[in-house]
Amino acid sequence: MAKRTIVSLPGDGIGRVVLEETIRVLEAAGFEANYVEGDIGWEFWTKEGNPLPQRTIDLLEEHKVALFGAITSKPKDEAFEELAPELKEKGLVYSSPIVGLRQHFGLDICLRPCKSYIGNPLNFVKRGIGDEIVEPAVDVAIFRQNTEGLYGGVEWTNPNEKVYEGLLTHPKFVKNFGSTPKEELSVSTRIFTKKATERILRAAFDHAVKYGYKSVTVCEKPNVIRETSGMMYKMALQMQTADYPQIELWNTNIDAQMMWLTKNPETYGVIVAGNMFGDIVSDGFAGLIGGLGFACSAQYNPDSGVAVFEPTHGSAPKYADFPTSIVNPIAMIESACMMLDFLDENKISAKIRKAVAEVISEGKTRTYDMMKMPGRVDVVEKGAASTTQMADAIISKLG
Ligand code: NAI
Ligand code: MG
Repeated sequence: MAKRTIVSLPGDGIGRVVLEETIRVLEAAGFEANYVEGDIGWEFWTKEGNPLPQRTIDLLEEHKVALFGAITSKPKDEAFEELAPELKEKGLVYSSPIVGLRQHFGLDICLRPCKSYIGNPLNFVKRGIGDEIVEPAVDVAIFRQNTEGLYGGVEWTNPNEKVYEGLLTHPKFVKNFGSTPKEELSVSTRIFTKKATERILRAAFDHAVKYGYKSVTVCEKPNVIRETSGMMYKMALQMQTADYPQIELWNTNIDAQMMWLTKNPETYGVIVAGNMFGDIVSDGFAGLIGGLGFACSAQYNPDSGVAVFEPTHGSAPKYADFPTSIVNPIAMIESACMMLDFLDENKISAKIRKAVAEVISEGKTRTYDMMKMPGRVDVVEKGAASTTQMADAIISKLG
């Protein structure tokens, strides 16, 4: 078979080093691929006025699958200041290239698995009966709708007449906000479509079946947000009854879920939520399994097969220029394992995950976050593994 081509999108800061080390691990594990590098991130904003150049979109259009490091984003004014002088007159406005990719390719399914590794010193522990220290085994797969809801961008401050008139047709608007001057109103919408809701639910149930999870939990707030959360739960119930009777369907409210996640996180399997609640609940669970050094993700469009795999962390600029990189590459390596699963290279992903598990349980090689050290230049001198040493340790266990 011809070698696959993977688009590598290193981006900014530590994105570059974690991606480089991850490709080394992939190659050592026997994944055969060509990598073509795509330009994305801050450098292309400042030099070209576009952090996501068309040539990068074309690359992804052609090859479909990308590994993405991280990018730097800055507030509007700062972004403008850093533009090349000749671009300053052009009226350019910075917008996140990640959101750009999501929108362009309709990457509506976001999966963020959170599984604790035995022996990770960053695992969440709690006090059990008789004050015994208990370490729950967390293994959840969070499906976040990635393109709609509160992050859909349909919002107004001082809404125009048409919008305002529309709002006035709702009795609750009249009762609660009718006496507020229009100029003092800000409105952000939460729009769910049946199509996208159906797709995220379907992805969640299919994942539960494929990987043997016993439950799917809809984590929303249907008792208060009746229309959108309510629709998602109702559709989930219909889908479960019709197509997935073997999977239990649970219903939690996002607020209660955030409390339960420190009480009984081991109880949950697949979780599915809208854009914002999915973002919140996935960060919550990621904290239980070691935080940003471990949190991986996939964003994909099941129809076109375009998929982007990336750690949830950012470019961590404060560590980007250290002479020896200290950051933990595991989140990126785990994201690459998700890519392998997506490509049906399950043997290779299993091999890499086993190697990571061995390194962690052995406890000899730990990056500064796992050592609970402040992130400084001298952590490697003090016994923490560098990014490269961690990747080497994983490679040495590939067998
Ligand atoms: P960040 O995730 O880059 O870093 C926050 C802190 O988390 C770091 O200072 C470090 O202490 C820790 N950390 C992050 N990755 C780590 C790793 N692999 N190993 C060990 N520790 C790690 O978030 P921050 O500082 O808020 O943002 C920095 C830049 O990244 C900003 O420009 C932000 O907009 C961007 N960003 C980009 C994201 C992306 O590319 N998907 C996501 C989040 C932020
Ligand atoms: Mg987040």
